[in-house]
Amino acid sequence: MTGTRAVVVGDVIDDIIVVPRGPIRTDTDTAASITRHPGGSACNTAAWLGFLGVGVDLVGRVGAGDAHRHATALRASGVTAHLSEDATLPTGTIVIVVDGETRTMLTDRGANATLSISAVTDALLADAGVLHLTGYSLFDAFTPDDLHTLVARARAAGVLVTFDPGSTGFIADYGVDAFREALAGIDLLLPNLDEGRLLSGEHDRAAVAAALVGYCPAVVITGGSSSVLVARRGEHVVEVPVAARTAVDPTGAGDAFTAGLVAAVLNGTDLVTAAREGVRAAGDAVMRPGGRPTPLG
Ligand SMILES: Nc1ncnc2c1ncn2[C@@H]1O[C@H](COP(=O)(O)OP(=O)(O)OP(=O)(O)O)[C@@H](O)[C@H]1O
Ligand SMILES: [Mg+2]
Repeated sequence: MTGTRAVVVGDVIDDIIVVPRGPIRTDTDTAASITRHPGGSACNTAAWLGFLGVGVDLVGRVGAGDAHRHATALRASGVTAHLSEDATLPTGTIVIVVDGETRTMLTDRGANATLSISAVTDALLADAGVLHLTGYSLFDAFTPDDLHTLVARARAAGVLVTFDPGSTGFIADYGVDAFREALAGIDLLLPNLDEGRLLSGEHDRAAVAAALVGYCPAVVITGGSSSVLVARRGEHVVEVPVAARTAVDPTGAGDAFTAGLVAAVLNGTDLVTAAREGVRAAGDAVMRPGGRPTPLG
């Protein structure tokens, strides 16, 4: 590792959270509270990295006129944003309809779909120790060749590449085999257990870990309030405990976990210690509303 910064590449999203004040009635109005929050897995991870004191660059794409608003929100968490604007597509938007414990998410990836790997410049990589990517970019923005090119450039610059698959639904749409092939060259895979199961075709956690190190040399598997598994090719799997909390809002727990882990890796710690730091950051995140490091509610 040469540089000390984290470069995070991927989604910029406007989360629109809809809480109806009663049962949703069709063909007429239903009163609701509707709030808008800046989100996106890549942005949330970057925001937690900034909050943890890491120098961090976020590379993403938004609709016309929205770069300043999103860059300002990211700057509040210490993130340097590099946002280009798409002339026609809107900023990616997710409408989240909350119905008791159930959440229905309607996703328009918008301008995220036209993010180009050329936005990740050699100058950014030269200062980076870690490049973090998410699976969402694979679904439209990056072809497998794009991903391989970017990963090769990062590795040539001595930058460690981490990757969060992000969503079982999208992996299933993309195709498990194709998704696995796209992962070639990635140093550290950060799936949750459901993503790990889908990617490995295994159910048992230990079997999931054993299979995934066949694709990536290091894999860290989260599982909500269950313990975290740290697996490295050719080594014994290590289990890192999680102190379960009654979450105020679990949104972004995985992104905060990634940030805590990446921050520790940049400090030169070993992977098990880094996973403990991920658990610490995520434990903090679940006690705060929203997916970013907002003040404690
Ligand atoms: N209830 C909880 N109590 C304590 N820690 C938690 C809890 N839920 C999640 N975490 C922490 O967050 C980490 C990531 O959670 P999880 O496995 O749910 O990620 P994810 O499914 O990727 O989440 P996301 O919805 O953010 O994508 C866990 O490994 C754990 O450290
Ligand atoms: Mg996740």
